[in-house]
Formats: sequence, structure tokens, C-alpha cells
Amino acid sequence: MTVLTWVVDRQRLSSIAHSRHPIAAPVSGVNVNRLLRRAGREPTARILDLGCGDAAWAMQALAHYPDGHADGVDLNSHVLERAAVAAEGRGLADRLTLHERDARSYVPDGDYDLVLCVGATHIFDGFAGTLRQAGRHVNADGILLVGEAFWQVPPTPAALAALDVKPGDYTDLAGLVDAAEHDGWTPVYAHVSDAEEWNDYEWSWVGSLTGWGLDNPGHPEAAEVLAVARAHREGWLRGYRDVLGFATLVLRRATNSAG
Ligand SMILES: C[S@@+](CC[C@H](N)C(=O)[O-])C[C@H]1O[C@@H](n2cnc3c(N)ncnc32)[C@H](O)[C@@H]1O
Repeated sequence: MTVLTWVVDRQRLSSIAHSRHPIAAPVSGVNVNRLLRRAGREPTARILDLGCGDAAWAMQALAHYPDGHADGVDLNSHVLERAAVAAEGRGLADRLTLHERDARSYVPDGDYDLVLCVGATHIFDGFAGTLRQAGRHVNADGILLVGEAFWQVPPTPAALAALDVKPGDYTDLAGLVDAAEHDGWTPVYAHVSDAEEWNDYEWSWVGSLTGWGLDNPGHPEAAEVLAVARAHREGWLRGYRDVLGFATLVLRRATNSAG
């Protein structure tokens, strides 16, 4: 979230940064499971994860829906390679199909019982675009699960600078619900990340990069990796900490197929 001119390969940097926290959002494993339970799909659920990253959400969803199948879509070949290895290790490779492509132009061969887009709404230009573009893949009685940032308090100049965003790029929590209802969705559950989840996420991100830089002192990119970690930490601690929130909403269509 910090503005820097990076020379280091961004995909590799992101891989290192997320190595200790495969969910690339401030949501704990316990709460991932709670959200998936609340999604309440059948064991045979068809699942789509847009901007899946390491496919940690998709794989955990498959643990909840033991006869289900998931499609994960991401542009980043590095994360998809890691996802494939993890799926193999968890015995899920035959139930997870990974697609290296732009989620905006993904054309599935049917609709889904559960569509996930967590920490990846930028793909669709924000929350409203995600409701429309990810939502079109959800079947009539299906669930759209979206993880999105919001302003916990009115944004400060330091937070805006650290995140390189404008005040209007996010709403407050009530505004997220309003936007969902405006587009015909209604939350049947939501999780708001707490301070401990933010701490774990941010310190894992910063700590993984810092550890890598210290472990590889002769590497040509080590100094830059350390600088990225430091700048990110500063941006969080002095900028958006306790200002930016993160909510994961479990959404259903406001009018279901039964009318
Ligand atoms: C912050 S990560 C979130 C990953 C995952 N949803 C999670 O919560 O762990 C955002 C992901 O979106 C992917 N991404 C960005 N633009 C994309 C696009 N146009 N199509 C597909 N994936 C994209 C990135 O490669 C990255 O893996």
C-alpha cells in the first residue's frame, strides 16, 4: 500500500511478504472458517475465487464442502504455482482448478454456489464493480463473499498519503452495506477484522520481508526489500493503522428465487 518505485520483482516481493500469512487480508483462520460456515453451502458446492492469490480461501472452502469443486483465478503465476503445490499437499488438487488469467474476462462454464473476492476488489474498480462483475457468476440462491476495506474513522491526511488513495475511494462500514443493498444484495453475515488480525497481518507482511532481507545480505535486492518493508511499516504505524478497517460480507440476493 506504500508508494515506492520498485526495481525488485513485484510478484516475488509479494510472495515473500505473504509467506507467513497465506490469506492476503487481515482475517484469521478461525474467522475464515466462521465466514465459510455462515455461507452455508451444500457439500457439492461449486466455488469461484476471483483474485485467489495462494487460493487459501478456496482450499479452506473445499474443506467445508467435501464434494465441492473450486476454480481459482489470478494473474500472478508465482502465487498460482504456490497454490498448486499447497493443493497437492492437502490432497485437493483434483478439486481445485487454477486459471492464470484476468478475472475481469474470466468466462466460466456455468454459475456458482459461492463466489469469493477478498482483498481483490481493485480488480473490478472497487466494491460496487465487484458486486456487479463477480456477482454475475453467482447462481440465483448463491452467496457472494466480498472482503473490502472501509474507513473506520474519517481518513487522516497521513492515512491517505500512506495508502495513496482519495477519501472517496472507500466508504464507511454502513456505506458498504448501503452499496450492497443498492445493487440488490443483502448481508446475511459479516466479519469486521479486529486489531489483532490487523497486527498479525501487517507484522507478518513486514516481518517476512525484513527476515528475508536480513537472511540474504549479499543479494542484490536485499537493501531494497528492507526499504520496502520499512516504508510499509511506517505507512501503517504512522498512517492507516486504526483508520482503515476491513470487512468481509456474506451476501445474498435481496430477492431470492422463491420471490
Ligand atoms: C491482496 S491479494 C488477495 C488474495 C486472496 N483473495 C486472499 O485473500 O488471500 C489480491 C490478488 O489479486 C490478484 N489480481 C490483481 N489483479 C488481477 C486481475 N485483473 N485478475 C486476476 N487476479 C488479479 C493479485 O495477483 C493478487 O494475488
